Amino acid sequence: MDEDFIERAFTQPATPGSGPQAGRRRMMAPSKIGLAGTGVPDPELAVIGRVGSDAVMMMGENPALPPMPARPRLLDFFRARLDDFYLRHMAGSAKHALDAGMDEKIVLACLLHDISNGALIRGDHGYWGAQMIAPYVDEEVAWAVRYHQCLRYVPDEAAGYRYPEIYLRLFGADYRPPDYIMRDAATARAHRWYMSARQVTLHDLYLFEEAGTVEPVELDVFEEIVGRHFRQPEEGLGLDDSPSSHMWRTIIWPNNFL
Ligand SMILES: [Fe+2]
Ligand SMILES: [Fe+2]
Repeated sequence: MDEDFIERAFTQPATPGSGPQAGRRRMMAPSKIGLAGTGVPDPELAVIGRVGSDAVMMMGENPALPPMPARPRLLDFFRARLDDFYLRHMAGSAKHALDAGMDEKIVLACLLHDISNGALIRGDHGYWGAQMIAPYVDEEVAWAVRYHQCLRYVPDEAAGYRYPEIYLRLFGADYRPPDYIMRDAATARAHRWYMSARQVTLHDLYLFEEAGTVEPVELDVFEEIVGRHFRQPEEGLGLDDSPSSHMWRTIIWPNNFL
């Protein structure tokens, strides 16, 4: 693999001081899932080969990323780990729900609905996202996040939801979702919380398509709703011992080798 590329993309220069790993270059290897099938070469063996007295595999804070507080709270993840696109998309969806007079639980579900593809992992993001938030929110909120993914493919004229125009472009007009998506959508349709997940799809708007809503939304608007409906752990989100705290830790330190 190209030496310059490894240096540029997968190496942090040595930081001074006496902290963990200080004084040595810190090497990174991306998660397999992000490289699988792409043809982007996996630098793992090449970077391991560089480990020595002056270089280690990165464990802990990466100075290339915005710092997270010692005890992170939910919105710190939004500010320090989401890119501008996802930040606008999720905050914009939540603001759209808020302005439509939705229940605060729905607003929270809209705010959180793409937390997985925005910050952790893409495929089956509804299921991953629901798992991430489940220990901290009302069961209905996690349920709505889980099922918004499959319900995006299923029109409901009565609820005012049509198959998204953008999906025609993104996936092709001939794309048909796999059986498990249609099965789970049918499960959702028959459930008493169906409209909660459906509401998430109704407010799941891409801001670049929505004239008049391109202004970035201030996260402070959601501070109180998050305070009322998201149980922030005392130790900090990710540093607690919930069934999903490891997922949040992975977002705090995405470049940890193990
Ligand atoms: Fe989504
Ligand atoms: Fe979305």
